[in-house]
Amino acid sequence: MRIDVVTIFPEYLAPLELSLAGRAREKGLVDIRVHDLRGWTHDRHRTVDDTPYGGGAGMVMKPEPWGEAFDELLAEGPATVVFTTPSGRPFTQAVARDLATRERIVFACGRYEGIDQRVVDEVATRAEVCEVSLGDYVLNGGEVAALAITEAVVRLLPGFMGNAASLVEESHEDGLLEYPVFTKPASWRGHDVPPVLLSGDHAAIAAWRHDQAVRRTAQRRPDLVAASTLMDDVEIGPAE
Ligand code: ADE
Repeated sequence: MRIDVVTIFPEYLAPLELSLAGRAREKGLVDIRVHDLRGWTHDRHRTVDDTPYGGGAGMVMKPEPWGEAFDELLAEGPATVVFTTPSGRPFTQAVARDLATRERIVFACGRYEGIDQRVVDEVATRAEVCEVSLGDYVLNGGEVAALAITEAVVRLLPGFMGNAASLVEESHEDGLLEYPVFTKPASWRGHDVPPVLLSGDHAAIAAWRHDQAVRRTAQRRPDLVAASTLMDDVEIGPAE
């Protein structure tokens, strides 16, 4: 997979060199290129923003540098373009799985009050476009969202995870939050590991984990419960 990120703060994407995405890079699974939007400006001040038509607070990102950026990047081949914006569709594990099937993603990181809407509309005439939000809160810009999305997508690429089973069992993969996990020692500061996990009874352990996942999801994310098909016949009480 190839990932391009267009931003006015290329240094913000430095963590991509580290950790998960860095490992995928070393393995040759992903080719990540970060671009400074100001490289597509032509004035002395390298201007990327202007006041909004219609008035109001803040500044809007000008269309011209973005247009030139996409001319150059899309000339190198087709891509799915992700605009990171608080007014996008919510980013979920399902969106991550979908994006992980793409050959190439170009992230456009907005700043200020956002990017002139005509950029999104014009790019949509020549590429697959999605506007994605990290969540219902406002960041200073889309860079952190691009980082988070990249990490969630890259770890799904075939060949990335040593243990594919750990992908299947984690939170959100089955529509539920993950059950609580424990390691040694069996007793720590007066808190004991649930005995069933020490029983060696694999069926009982699987049933306990499913029950815990359901309880946790019902308590913390009732919005997910309605969507889950795995809640049949389970009575929701307090998590143990
Ligand atoms: N830019 C600013 N806030 C954002 C958010 N919540 N998600 C994606 N991009 C953003």
